[in-house]
Amino acid sequence: MTRIRTFAVLGLLSALLVNSCAAASEGRADDGRTPAAGPQLKILMAQTDSAEMPKVVRVPEIRVQAGVQERPTMPLIGEKAPAFEATTTQGPMKFPQDYRGKWVILFSHPADFTPVCTTEFMTFATMLPKFEALNCKLIGLSIDSNYSHIAWLRRIREAIEFNGMKHVNVTFPVIADLKMDVAKKFGMVQPAEDDTHAVRAVFIIDPEAKVRAILYYPLSNGRNVHEILRLLIALQTTDKHNVATPANWQPGDEVIVPPPGSCGTAEQRMTRPDKDVRAVDWFFSLKKMPKDKLDLPPEEE
Ligand code: BEZ
Repeated sequence: MTRIRTFAVLGLLSALLVNSCAAASEGRADDGRTPAAGPQLKILMAQTDSAEMPKVVRVPEIRVQAGVQERPTMPLIGEKAPAFEATTTQGPMKFPQDYRGKWVILFSHPADFTPVCTTEFMTFATMLPKFEALNCKLIGLSIDSNYSHIAWLRRIREAIEFNGMKHVNVTFPVIADLKMDVAKKFGMVQPAEDDTHAVRAVFIIDPEAKVRAILYYPLSNGRNVHEILRLLIALQTTDKHNVATPANWQPGDEVIVPPPGSCGTAEQRMTRPDKDVRAVDWFFSLKKMPKDKLDLPPEEE
């Protein structure tokens, strides 16, 4: 009887174990609802010849890998942008070597010869002088060949009119990333949206090759290039004046003074604020930042 009970317990335990290992290999938790997390330690009950209680055997960690889709990786804000070499419409490119001391806006588009991308490229190309006036280079990218890029850019120049723009010459480099080498480094392929085309990603990278801002848009909606320029101006203003910029900030608006870091400076901020500071509360202070103190492209001054 004892022997029968022991084998019944063993049967139950092994059924549980088989189910739990299957769950792990399928990337689900034992309850079948949520993904199984992290390394797992399983305890096996080893069957013995005797009718005594089975030995407890620890098996090594099982890492949940099988059946789990590889997630895109991407550099995060504050990290160095990944280095790469690429073929572009302006010749070979080595990043970051070719861009030392420059701001860079690296942006991806889903595909050449598509309408939304065409409007974006015409807008970026028309606004290029504004970016260049801010020591910033533009780099485009899609999972297309260099010949496709060349043909598309020629067609844009010859035939496409949009929003008062025509005969637009795209002179910034466009990376031909057929093997997705660069796109994968920057998390530009997001398989749930599309696994063979890049989404509309924007990386604003500073002169030390550090990622300072990231924007991601879906395939269906074009980006606001004015917003990308505004964000570049805001980042450069932050670096130059050690200030932050409030919601909907535009050049010429007040900026935010960093909050004080001690009780003493908080008190001072409220009782004896600097003469150009408008202290609304100890943590909430603004100051004027007229346009002539900013680096702006000529037309925005
Ligand atoms: C476009 O640029 O028009 C586009 C590209 C990919 C999917 C949908 C639209």
